[in-house]
Amino acid sequence: MPPRKRTTVPLDARLHRALRLPAKATDCTLSEVIADALRQALSQEARNIQQAEALQPRRTISLKDVGARLKRLGVPTIIVEKNERAGDSWRKRYKSLCLHDPVWYDHMPYIPFPDDWPVFSPKDKLGDWLEMYAKVMELNYWGSTLCESASYDEARQEWTVKVVRNGKPVTLKPKQLVLATGMSAVPNMPKFPGMEKFKGEQHHSSKHPGPDAYAGKKCVVIGSNNSAHDICAALWEAGADVTMVQRSSTHVARSDSLMELDLGPVYSEQAVARGIDVDTADMLARIARKLGPLKRGVAAPKVAAGEPEQKGERRVT
Ligand SMILES: Cc1cc2nc3c(=O)[nH]c(=O)nc-3n(C[C@H](O)[C@H](O)[C@H](O)COP(=O)(O)OP(=O)(O)OC[C@H]3O[C@@H](n4cnc5c(N)ncnc54)[C@H](O)[C@@H]3O)c2cc1C
Ligand SMILES: NC(=O)c1ccc[n+]([C@@H]2O[C@H](COP(=O)([O-])OP(=O)(O)OC[C@H]3O[C@@H](n4cnc5c(N)ncnc54)[C@H](OP(=O)(O)O)[C@@H]3O)[C@@H](O)[C@H]2O)c1
Repeated sequence: MPPRKRTTVPLDARLHRALRLPAKATDCTLSEVIADALRQALSQEARNIQQAEALQPRRTISLKDVGARLKRLGVPTIIVEKNERAGDSWRKRYKSLCLHDPVWYDHMPYIPFPDDWPVFSPKDKLGDWLEMYAKVMELNYWGSTLCESASYDEARQEWTVKVVRNGKPVTLKPKQLVLATGMSAVPNMPKFPGMEKFKGEQHHSSKHPGPDAYAGKKCVVIGSNNSAHDICAALWEAGADVTMVQRSSTHVARSDSLMELDLGPVYSEQAVARGIDVDTADMLARIARKLGPLKRGVAAPKVAAGEPEQKGERRVT
């Protein structure tokens, strides 16, 4: 890789704060690659002035992320999981499921995905990665363990957590408890009049087995968000006659557009080719987020006239 040049970026107050620079600093010398990505992130913010959350830090894919960090900090930790194997909550979902966020956005701490990992991970591959991760990081992982209740004793400053491990009740007394049961742990099964008389099959998306058994059959999917679109598309491809029921408006964005306008400047093959590794991408995304909406053209440095404009970039002048 050619040596990284350094370049000077003018500062405004928010960039100052985000980079935690001394008050007297008036500009900032960064590697050209980082400065360029920062420029893109800033001009991105200026473009999406109504969308302060346009460049968020990565979402976590798992509680194991927290468990791994606590272990490194020397905090004794038990991870309690009702499924048998780590990654089962992904394995048990419908078979066409692939992540919609690109691989660079999904890394776990300490062990990056191999560099030939697919951009959008299939769910079983991700499940296997999580299982491998829990083993290799030597996490204290209790599978087949259902948490039944948790209560806090103010006087003792201690939790009482009742779990059933492999069928046997166990009471744990931790000082700290992380509730990471996920946002999708409890299926939302609305009641519709006549459901009890309906002779066809009914199931929640978390129990959907995939499209194969439904070729040539009529299917109705209630809902119009991510799961509904994935399931409807797979049913249609398998030859089912499928109808989607949409209750309210749905925000639809093409994956290509999101990559070009949102994540792509820092989380993409192009970003990697420009030398932006995952840690740098995270830092840039956090900076862009902390800056909040920018006034158009205030903080985004001008790109010199005549410089070739790259795909996915728009000049802010
Ligand atoms: C179909 C689907 C696709 C998704 N795709 C993406 C994506 O592309 N990118 C992205 O960033 N996010 C995606 N998400 C969101 C993603 O799953 C969450 O952001 C992420 O998994 C959150 O991690 P978590 O560890 O907090 O919770 P989860 O991964 O939901 O893990 C919670 C765990 O708690 C266990 N649990 C629940 N209750 C109990 C109990 N009482 N006792 C013991 N164990 C219990 C569950 O079995 C589960 O394994 C998707 C979600 C779904 C449902
Ligand atoms: N490939 C992927 O990356 C992927 C795939 C699936 C899911 N996910 C993620 O998983 C999470 C959950 O997504 P999801 O699609 O399973 O659920 P969701 O986003 O909560 O969407 C539920 C859908 O069901 C509809 N609905 C709920 N109750 C209804 C009722 N009584 N009558 C009619 N419609 C009803 C909702 O309509 P209203 O909008 O009107 O409430 C909505 O369209 C999200 O974070 C999503 O991004 C990601």
